[in-house]
Amino acid sequence: MTRTDATVVALDEAFFADPHAVYATLRTTSPVTRALTPVGLSVWLVTRYDDARAALADPRLSKDGDRLAAVLDRHTVTSQRRVSLAAELLRHMLNSDPPDHTRLRKLVGRAFTVRAIAGLRPRIEQIATELADRMAAGPAEVDLLDTFAFPLPMTVICELLGVPDVDRTAFRGWTRSLLATDDDTLERTAAMAAMAQYLVDLVADKRARPGEDMLSAIVAASEHADRLSPDETVAMAFLLLVAGHETTVNLIGNGMLALLRRPDRLAGLRADPDLTPRAVEEFLRFDGPVDLATFRHTTEPVEIGGVTVPAGEIVLVALSSANRDPARFPDPDELDLQREAAGHLGFGFGLHHCLGAPLARLEGDVAFRTLLARFPAMALAVDPAALTWRSSILIRGLTRLPVRLDGQQ
Ligand code: HEM
Repeated sequence: MTRTDATVVALDEAFFADPHAVYATLRTTSPVTRALTPVGLSVWLVTRYDDARAALADPRLSKDGDRLAAVLDRHTVTSQRRVSLAAELLRHMLNSDPPDHTRLRKLVGRAFTVRAIAGLRPRIEQIATELADRMAAGPAEVDLLDTFAFPLPMTVICELLGVPDVDRTAFRGWTRSLLATDDDTLERTAAMAAMAQYLVDLVADKRARPGEDMLSAIVAASEHADRLSPDETVAMAFLLLVAGHETTVNLIGNGMLALLRRPDRLAGLRADPDLTPRAVEEFLRFDGPVDLATFRHTTEPVEIGGVTVPAGEIVLVALSSANRDPARFPDPDELDLQREAAGHLGFGFGLHHCLGAPLARLEGDVAFRTLLARFPAMALAVDPAALTWRSSILIRGLTRLPVRLDGQQ
């Protein structure tokens, strides 16, 4: 049965403070509904597991970046300006449909298979150990995001791609400004321009002095214009660098928060570290780093969960909500480290399923094993109610995670 739904959900501060509560209501009352993002974008929200999975696999929900720009302009209902992303950063696989998507993903696909990534374990363990050593030698109270959860994936992806050590601090500042909120601030626009310029220069440098790194290999592929254009080369570097660390930081942060709030589960995992890969899947299901999948738009009217979404509309698939749908995961609000969480949508689904999933899983595995083994007394340093979440529709992550390593409150 087709029906239209008049409810409009505001994705505002109250929503970011507790999206799971909002989603629980929506799944029962209006599973496919209109919503308004913080920058005044009118979108459709899909909150049930089956509908979410079907939408992610539906070719009528396009990710073509050029068409999306026009759709976005039509759907901005407030006077706020939209962020004008530097064009050369936009032409990446997550903003494309086949055949471009197929071509772009194939170029780097082999480097991200489970087998290729497994070879990185010793180096990731070394980086994690060094960070833990530094924490152990420092103050008893630290921000776990700053001292561990952020630098681990950041170092890994920069080494993999060949971003020089000296440039990483600047990079960190830009990505923080970029993903801190969805607001179109001057700071955000400036960060975007600075990053675009930095990546254009870095690509030129790799062309002049190729190394053994992945970016040099991508630049070499771009020598054949039919494989990768200059804009696509820079956009590929941008996507891999940003997707490569801004997400995993919150797998570690959200997962550690979930554990620190449940000392029995924390003790169980510490006693049985072989449970870690399964626990990582449950962290991704329970409070994954990506809240809503990236923008998709309808190329024709599409029925989702009994609601007809007209052509030319923006659809946001709520991965966090799908992962807590009781129709798919019994007792969804329980963190159950023994649970069979496979099938969660934390890495998306379909053609755009996360390319970096094997790397993120490996980083998560190493991170939780290291932190639990090295800091047996770790405890939250603040009341959980005092923790704040980022105001981003894409990223579900804390602004800080203060912990005490000696276990004192
Ligand atoms: C795509 C989540 C880590 C690279 C995606 C998507 C999700 C996701 C949900 C699909 C978005 C959509 O369809 O709208 C995550 C999570 C991570 C993580 C939760 C960490 C826990 C990584 C890492 C990399 C990476 C480490 C490494 C470079 C990518 C790329 C895409 C992608 C390139 C686009 C794939 C495509 O369009 O075909 N990720 N990601 N991600 N991710 Fe990840």
